[in-house]
Amino acid sequence: MTTRPIGISSDPSRAAEVLRNGGLVAIPTETVYGLAADVTMPEAVERIFSTKDRPTGHPLIIHVAHLEIAERWADLSSPTAQILATKCWPGPLTLLAERRPQVSDIVTGGRPTVGIRVPAHPLSQQLLAEHGGAIAAPSANRFGKVSPTTAQHVIDDIGNYLDPERDLILDGGPCRVGVESTIIDITTEPAQLLRPGGISSETIAELIGDVDEASGPSRTAGMMVSHYAPRTKLVLVEPGDPLPDTSTDEVYIIDCAQDLVKAAHGLYSELRAADAAEVSLIVALMPPKEGLGNALRDRLTKAAADQGRGSASQVG
Ligand code: TXA
Ligand code: MG
Repeated sequence: MTTRPIGISSDPSRAAEVLRNGGLVAIPTETVYGLAADVTMPEAVERIFSTKDRPTGHPLIIHVAHLEIAERWADLSSPTAQILATKCWPGPLTLLAERRPQVSDIVTGGRPTVGIRVPAHPLSQQLLAEHGGAIAAPSANRFGKVSPTTAQHVIDDIGNYLDPERDLILDGGPCRVGVESTIIDITTEPAQLLRPGGISSETIAELIGDVDEASGPSRTAGMMVSHYAPRTKLVLVEPGDPLPDTSTDEVYIIDCAQDLVKAAHGLYSELRAADAAEVSLIVALMPPKEGLGNALRDRLTKAAADQGRGSASQVG
């Protein structure tokens, strides 16, 4: 299907040019790699969906260089928005806000809201500063797979679906945080946590007071079930619980119970490595329900649940 391998570069200027020409760029962020297109180019944005094999209608997060630019795409005028944006950006926080009219339906899946964030990775910062506008970027994995946290993961997942004539992978090394951004819906009062992620809900609550758990169908639209599932059977072990009987299994243990920062950084690589090792069982030692532990617990719980369900997910 491809004539030559997809190009890889560490030059943000080259990546900006690819975006200007309507191509896709896999971008490093501090959380996971994203698959980016210029939001004002519908054909390019459509190719994000086909490259990921993601059903349209699943809204995309848009990424900008700083708050002033963000305000052109989303209503961030509320005190809550201003506090979160000034204290947490650049960083692993996505704000779900009322969209401006210029945000196209293909990005939001027709919703009145848009997810927006300012990523902290220096290469995506440089790319966005040079680009000057907004780029839509979901995680750069095929729909239903674990998010990529290295350029090699991107090649493994979507390398064959990118167009070497038009697209590029911007290699910024392994992602520092390793799990996706925290998503906060600021259109409700109080704000709601839609996805635990790189910034803890404790930190958010310190900044803006109470944050509710997501509730109601409209709040969870497009986010019903996440696919973070390895192929190998995954068993979760809560702190203090005994290990399962593994006498008949070859086991790969993922220890998320000790150093939460390290566990988040390595989680998706570990899930990939566990599948590649072709063991019969993955045992994840669960972290406590605090800080980054909540994001880890969310991904691992969904991964284990997805296996039981064995079918379609709503999020990619
Ligand atoms: O860390 C991250 O957030 C990464 C990096 C690349 O920025 N991006 C990411 O995108 O995780 P994605 O598309 O894999 O996950 C975004 C989630 C999806 O569950 C999507 O349904 C939800 O955010 N979302 C985005 N915009 C939304 C909206 N307007 N309303 C409801 N949910 C929305
Ligand atoms: Mg994703």
